[in-house]
Amino acid sequence: MAKIDEAEIERLGLEFEKKSPQEIIRFALDKYGSRISFASSFGAEDVAMIDMIAKIKPGARVFTLETGYLFPETHDVIKRIKEKYNIKLETYAPSESVDEFEKKYGKLYDTDTDKCCSVRKIEPLNRAIADNLDAWITGIKRDQSHTRANTKKIEVDKKFNLVKFNPIADWTSGQVWAYIRENNVPYNVLHDRNYPSIGCAPCTKPVKPGEDPRAGRWAGKGKTECGLHPSK
Ligand code: ADX
Ligand code: SF4
Repeated sequence: MAKIDEAEIERLGLEFEKKSPQEIIRFALDKYGSRISFASSFGAEDVAMIDMIAKIKPGARVFTLETGYLFPETHDVIKRIKEKYNIKLETYAPSESVDEFEKKYGKLYDTDTDKCCSVRKIEPLNRAIADNLDAWITGIKRDQSHTRANTKKIEVDKKFNLVKFNPIADWTSGQVWAYIRENNVPYNVLHDRNYPSIGCAPCTKPVKPGEDPRAGRWAGKGKTECGLHPSK
């Protein structure tokens, strides 16, 4: 893993703050080549990002963390995206199947969400990073939560020791949907059923009109982040 020049990344973050997502993606892919990958959960932000990435660099690396608890509708959009775009999709799953895992621990998503996310998301993420990554790209947005409000478009990810690119950090949900419609991007049909933010099925509920877009994530479980992104 290459050593990160923190001052340089801070400078780039300032330089690229006013640039478009496509300019940031192009810069990231040129700079890191095969040592960068886009993390995709195939939510609205991520399918828009995949459209941009595949147009800029066909065959670019994309990875997804397949916890075993995804909705069938998420599997369906993954299939449609793979059919439409030339991307190199890498899937990282936990070493144990859901059956083996639940035999051992029961339904951890009800009893200990932190442990469940740690085994079924973070451990696979660590393996994704170990597959020659110096940098990653995400679809996070500043308006998603107070924990993401200060996200920079280019920053050092101290937890995972990577450079992190967040090209649509300053986009609104309206901009994401305008992009999806203008570019005819396949999206998860759950978005049309009041699921603005989609994670694992046991931990994702639809939201009521006017509710926060992430209100359906870990609803009633006192949790807002799974460990992929900073919780403070
Ligand atoms: S989460 O951390 O609470 O699940 P959210 O669903 O808002 O995050 O997604 C934020 C960003 O994290 C996505 O745009 C994507 O880059 C990354 N991400 C979230 N879930 C996954 C996943 N299962 N696999 C790969 N990347 C993911
Ligand atoms: Fe487990 Fe829920 Fe975390 Fe998915 S989001 S890994 S089901 S606790």
